[in-house]
Amino acid sequence: MSIPTALITGITGQDGSYLADFLLTKGYRVVGMVRRSSTENFERIEHLRGQVEICQADLLDQLSLINLLRQVRPGEVYNLASQSFVPTSWEQPVLTGEFTALGVTRMLEAVRLVDREIRFYQASSSEMFGKVQEVPQTERTPFYPRSPYGVAKLYGHWITVNSRESYNLFACSGILFNHESPRRGKEFVSRKVTDGVARIKRGLADQLFLGNLEARRDWGYAGDYVEAMWLMLQQPQPDDYIIATGDTHSVRELCEIAFARAGLPWQDHVMVDQKLVRPAEVDLLQGDASKAQRVLGWHPRVSFRQLVEMMVDADLARHAQRP
Ligand code: NAP
Ligand code: GDD
Repeated sequence: MSIPTALITGITGQDGSYLADFLLTKGYRVVGMVRRSSTENFERIEHLRGQVEICQADLLDQLSLINLLRQVRPGEVYNLASQSFVPTSWEQPVLTGEFTALGVTRMLEAVRLVDREIRFYQASSSEMFGKVQEVPQTERTPFYPRSPYGVAKLYGHWITVNSRESYNLFACSGILFNHESPRRGKEFVSRKVTDGVARIKRGLADQLFLGNLEARRDWGYAGDYVEAMWLMLQQPQPDDYIIATGDTHSVRELCEIAFARAGLPWQDHVMVDQKLVRPAEVDLLQGDASKAQRVLGWHPRVSFRQLVEMMVDADLARHAQRP
């Protein structure tokens, strides 16, 4: 039997690195697409050097994607690359649309041109629910995005659905709720808090400035969520799935657990900075992943408390080694 080949766009990101880990354990040949930059940004996949192949292409460049598929000949494409930080999407809405919305069309067009048998996964987002129309959110909940990022993701979602319905491509949209890990970028609130806790504990800082403490998210563990991406592409039919824990917690609760893990009183250190409050907020996300549980047999394994404590412990260890 031949070895299956997976192409991951965004392999240098949080999810790309966990997905590469996962697919390697499944015996895949893993190829990661990276964009050209003057310095390498391979920290999250450093441990995989020699085990994954890295190729250059860019979601902004149609021909580079076509050539990449011709060269790699993957059976599965996981399109994880995007401008993924919500606040930046207000600063750079056009660029966000180019990467996060039109980038999906470019990749789907490349699939259609090179090999229609490729199975395609699109990294869609709970941010599309925005001003939520019902709680919890399911695959049938109407969308109401609240940021240029959410609007761009919504385009990516519908072009994926449309490519399935128009061209019969095996294209799936995974509507993933927030998922975190010790590899999370430090600008996202979970990692900002756990890194802040570790810095305060080690005497490197005294305060942590945050925005809206009342926002609620359905936070899960990235290592659990990448398995769901793979499961979607192993089904007999392509479809769309919510991936979530079903639990929701506030940023305030995140702070309580994270600071307590390090034995610190959070109220003494957390300050609210109005500049960090968003022009339009997503107040509450809570997903209903019962379809994924029923059809894919997928279940989250790591609880919110376990996740936060895992991240605090990792940041404490990191700051102990190199302040
Ligand atoms: P991330 O850590 O920000 O990683 C984003 C990746 O996209 C990086 O590898 C980045 O490469 C790459 N990228 C950006 N622009 C590119 C371009 N023009 N060409 C090629 N590569 C490009 O994001 P993540 O948390 O792993 O999330 C993965 C995907 O899932 C994203 O699409 C995100 O929007 C979506 N999503 C995430 C969550 C979540 O909670 N994490 C939830 C729902 C959906 P560089 O290293 O060069 O910057
Ligand atoms: N980043 C950040 N920084 N967020 C803060 C802060 C802060 O200082 N203070 C409060 N928050 C609140 C935000 O207002 C938001 O309501 C919540 O914390 C979560 O913010 P992020 O961690 O930045 O994540 P996000 O929910 O905006 O977006 C993430 O999840 C989406 C899925 O719902 C990203 O990973 C997106 O790419 C992903 O699609």
